[in-house]
Amino acid sequence: SFGITPEYFDVIIIGTGIAGMFTALSIERKLKVLMITKETLDRSTSNMAQGGIVSPIFGETLYQDTLKAGGYVNDPKRVEILVKEGSKQIEKLIEWGVPFDRDSEGNLLATREGGHSGRNILHCKDETGKKIMTGLERKLRNKKGVTLLEETYAYQLTDFSDWQNSSNNQGDENQGAGESKEDPGNREKGGMVSVILPTGDVGKFYSPNIVIATGGIGGLYQHTSNPEGNTGDGIALGKSLGIEIKNMEFNQFHPTYFQAKEGTGFLVTEALRGEGATLRNGEGVAFMKERHPMGDLAPRDVVARGIFEELQKVPKTMVTVDISHREENFIKQRFPKIYRKALKRGYDITKEPLPVTPASHYIMGGIAVDDYAETSIPGIFAVGECACSDIHGANRLASNSLLDAIVFAGRAANKITEAFPETIQEESVQRITLNCNSFLENKSYREFSWSHEELRAFRKALKKDTQKVLGIIKKDRLLSEFLLDQELALRLFDDKDPPKKWTGKEKRDFHEVKNHLTVARVMTKAALEREENIGAHYKVQDEKNP
Ligand code: SIN
Repeated sequence: SFGITPEYFDVIIIGTGIAGMFTALSIERKLKVLMITKETLDRSTSNMAQGGIVSPIFGETLYQDTLKAGGYVNDPKRVEILVKEGSKQIEKLIEWGVPFDRDSEGNLLATREGGHSGRNILHCKDETGKKIMTGLERKLRNKKGVTLLEETYAYQLTDFSDWQNSSNNQGDENQGAGESKEDPGNREKGGMVSVILPTGDVGKFYSPNIVIATGGIGGLYQHTSNPEGNTGDGIALGKSLGIEIKNMEFNQFHPTYFQAKEGTGFLVTEALRGEGATLRNGEGVAFMKERHPMGDLAPRDVVARGIFEELQKVPKTMVTVDISHREENFIKQRFPKIYRKALKRGYDITKEPLPVTPASHYIMGGIAVDDYAETSIPGIFAVGECACSDIHGANRLASNSLLDAIVFAGRAANKITEAFPETIQEESVQRITLNCNSFLENKSYREFSWSHEELRAFRKALKKDTQKVLGIIKKDRLLSEFLLDQELALRLFDDKDPPKKWTGKEKRDFHEVKNHLTVARVMTKAALEREENIGAHYKVQDEKNP
């Protein structure tokens, strides 16, 4: 229903990868936020991140490793911010339910990748991006005040000065808000975004805070680890506003990409080498040893160049990465996705090496920003890969991109939030106590740790709540509360298995409770969404006395 008349939002975020999502979720006040993605929420490049997210929790080497890998072109002050604020933002991911791998005692596990002096990287097997994005998506779907426009393409960004200049320019669709009769008011920062809606119509939105979070440029290359849609849209939008675009000569090639003859290839995480894999040329020589003191775990630029040169030396030769000396079960459990993908293309990595080639992966340059991810135009921010936060210098350290995204997204969100008067702070609504509340407090989301008795008691409480909330007469407040509890509870069950020692009947109970939560969630959402009372659906609004 968005028409050509520009609609106001407190914040507009273009892009829904980790940087855009983290910005939205870090806006702690109840602001009116618009999120725009040309894909769908579950199809961002962040979803594809394999190896992990570097974590300053593990020590002091990150600062030096980042500067060294980046050729000391990085801004040391920004790297200091990354290291100082990284842990806090990672804690947030954990709190929001991202299941980083842990040992049997619950301690976080860490791996190593190129350029790192130690094991500094948190991971969720070889699907870290997917797990992080699932956690963020779950959280975002429940955030009040967020409007999400999927399959919507932001084709134009005009800043406020442009808008004023063009406001007499009635009738030209491509001239900012020219066609609008509505006065946007005296805005001093931000601007307007013009989009193509899924219907093909044009939509226009304006805001004092616009965050560009559109990702990288890999799609410009024939061989890339990125989706085709990574066409540098946000960088082009920034450029169109005259914002400085810097460091674009620094485009990173990931050393190890499996290039399929037909169809799409796939990235082979550096963590494979972190866990002992070796690169060899066509003659079986482990060539990285003599190229760099860190051998196979040299910084990415050095390894990519090494492979490229080996490939150039002998026509039609191959470079391979080989982890087959490690135990079969370890490989299958630690790298399940790569194992499956390679097998599908005829390579069993538990037994044989896999051919690899460098592919365009990450652009270190982008939209120039300050310490708070704000560009030279007030109210226009850039976060994530499309921004040049000056963290990565001439070569990004492996697994530093996700951390850069969340640290600077957090900073942008704080700056944006602070500019709004306290009065619009999210009002603290008193929580209604539902029966299942007490079961969900202070739970560990890492593994399913309940006894069967606890599960039975929870099931009873859940039934009572279902009866009360999804009953003959429903109330929005109760529905919202129930939805929150379902989300929390689903985090306990999602991707988990019942304890191995449980009986068949007990295991069935586990799955039935999980299904209860899934179905109740669908029903609750539907009831919240349907406004009119019709047939068996009947809601009353009784805010004070739910
Ligand atoms: C990888 O897992 O090798 C990619 C991680 C990154 O790009 O930092």
